[in-house]
Amino acid sequence: MYNIIQHSHSGIMWLVVVMLTLSVIFSLIKLIKKEETASAHWYKFFFYTKWLMYIQALLGITLMFISPLVHFGEGFMKNEGWRFYGMEHPLMMLIAIGLVSIGLFKSKKKATAIKKNKTIFIYYAIALVVMMFMIPWAAVMS
Ligand code: HEM
Repeated sequence: MYNIIQHSHSGIMWLVVVMLTLSVIFSLIKLIKKEETASAHWYKFFFYTKWLMYIQALLGITLMFISPLVHFGEGFMKNEGWRFYGMEHPLMMLIAIGLVSIGLFKSKKKATAIKKNKTIFIYYAIALVVMMFMIPWAAVMS
């Protein structure tokens, strides 16, 4: 059970990185081109990216209860690995997922396509930077 969830969480990370990066690139291209139409199929792409991050969060929350890397006992804050997997990584990833959710929600309320794309670009780009810093690349590449 732990192995399946841990490998799924680790594998889905690549899909999240690719879809979030593409969302940032395409919203920027639409912004630069000052496109007047907010195409439905791009909105679906931004929407699916958000939902994939929700699935990643669900797997992550499950790992909080079963991962041997998560330990909330004596010395939690002094131990870099416990502090990272028990607090820093979950907290910052939830912030990144929150930014994507707020960005998509706010962009729908914008009147023009240019403002919609600008909102998506800003929120998704900040979320991407936060996420790239909080992915344990050493563990992934090992
Ligand atoms: C989009 C968001 C997220 C991404 C891209 C992500 C990515 C990753 C990656 C790449 C690993 C290392 C897996 C490995 O060792 O191969 C990991 C581990 C972990 N993540 Fe996340 N994570 C995300 C969200 C979360 C959230 C929201 C939580 C908890 C609330 C969480 C909890 C954990 C835990 C506990 C581990 C350690 C699992 C283990 O190796 O035993 N993650 N995460």
